[in-house]
Amino acid sequence: MRDLMAITERPEVISLAGGLPDVSGFPPQMLERVAKAMTDGAGPRRARRPYGPTEGMAKVHEAIQVVMAEEGTQVDLGELLVTTGGQQAIDLVCKTLVDPGDVVLAEGPTYPGAIPSFTAYQADVRQLEMDEHGLRIDLLEETLDQLDEAGIRPKFLYTIPTFQNPAGVTMSLERRKQLVKIAQERELLVVEDSPYSLLRYEGDPLPTLRSLDGGNYVIYLGTFSKILAAGLRIGWIAAPRAIRQKMNIGKQGADLCSPSTSQVVIEACFQDLPLWRSYLEDVKGRYQGRRDVMLSSLAHAMPEGTSWTRPEGGLFLWVTLPEALDTTDLLARALRSNVAFVPGRAAYTDGRGGHSMRVNFSGVNADDIHEGVRRIGDVVFEQLELYGDVMGEAPPKRRATDRPTGAKPPVDDAPEQGALVEFPRRRSAERPA
Ligand SMILES: Cc1ncc(COP(=O)(O)O)c(C=O)c1O
Repeated sequence: MRDLMAITERPEVISLAGGLPDVSGFPPQMLERVAKAMTDGAGPRRARRPYGPTEGMAKVHEAIQVVMAEEGTQVDLGELLVTTGGQQAIDLVCKTLVDPGDVVLAEGPTYPGAIPSFTAYQADVRQLEMDEHGLRIDLLEETLDQLDEAGIRPKFLYTIPTFQNPAGVTMSLERRKQLVKIAQERELLVVEDSPYSLLRYEGDPLPTLRSLDGGNYVIYLGTFSKILAAGLRIGWIAAPRAIRQKMNIGKQGADLCSPSTSQVVIEACFQDLPLWRSYLEDVKGRYQGRRDVMLSSLAHAMPEGTSWTRPEGGLFLWVTLPEALDTTDLLARALRSNVAFVPGRAAYTDGRGGHSMRVNFSGVNADDIHEGVRRIGDVVFEQLELYGDVMGEAPPKRRATDRPTGAKPPVDDAPEQGALVEFPRRRSAERPA
């Protein structure tokens, strides 16, 4: 992933590989507030202060309470720990809870950035399949029973229930309730990673796992990266006090505290809540438009036998190609056409995901989304034709469209293929020892 991100820095590459928010519409009034906070009153002193409290500044805790309240979730100040991005939150969870060899459960596919944290602490990651309603709770129960029989207690379940990265699917209300019930009955710690919940483009908001549980078995992770600015590197953990206390010590050892300057910026941005809310609305409108362009472009560029998820929010969708293709190989070819995506294997620890890919629609404008997807489609066709020649099979078929290749499709004529979801299944032989 690191190598890939370096390549995608090249200006000629259309990168559908990132997860970058678009901050081009950042309101000037908010920047004025930030500038004022940096020059007036107590702001400059706080911003320049080299070290702040490890748990974060009080005003940032208040901003976190506001953000979590937007998702109908209450949190006490004593449960909060400000972190250096959502990424450090995942790392601190592992640092605090995982001993080498501990079983950690996660969705398959999962957030590619979480995998290095799990493996750095030598977790034994078991990934459970999802469908269009999110994590399959029947498989979770089955796995918990099997682990129980083997005398193994998983340290936690890591889940991104809302607009999952990378799959773009959302856990249904029924499954959320089931999961919380299981967590309480079996004393299973659940880590709910929720960077995207406020980026909903359609459908009704769903309660967080944390709000359904009341904060006993659910550790909630959040970040300002997708709802304000990723460069601030400020996220947070809301955890039961005893766990939060251990994480606070873990954070002292990692970086003493998160940047004071970024925390003063957050304080300034949340002084005017209507302004932040209107910024969020603006961002959501833009991302929704880009999602629609991506759905429509996929429908026109991809061959029959390809499926993808249709996210109701967030930044990503998950594309599954015919099994003959391997997206890691395909990426090398796609980069020669100056387009990038995340190959599916990056989202698994056990080699699955070989014919899937994650594509992002938030950080790229509509024209580049259309052109990027067209280039990927061309590479997919080329590889399938090659495969067909070697295997003596019929060439791949285009989906029903009378549009010439390269012509831009209108956003509203995406065929229903967008509703299809397919995740790689683990064959019994592939089970990790
Ligand atoms: C599920 C998930 N968790 C955590 C992060 C990391 O967030 P941050 O940029 O705040 O470190 C991301 C970033 O894409 C993410 O998708």
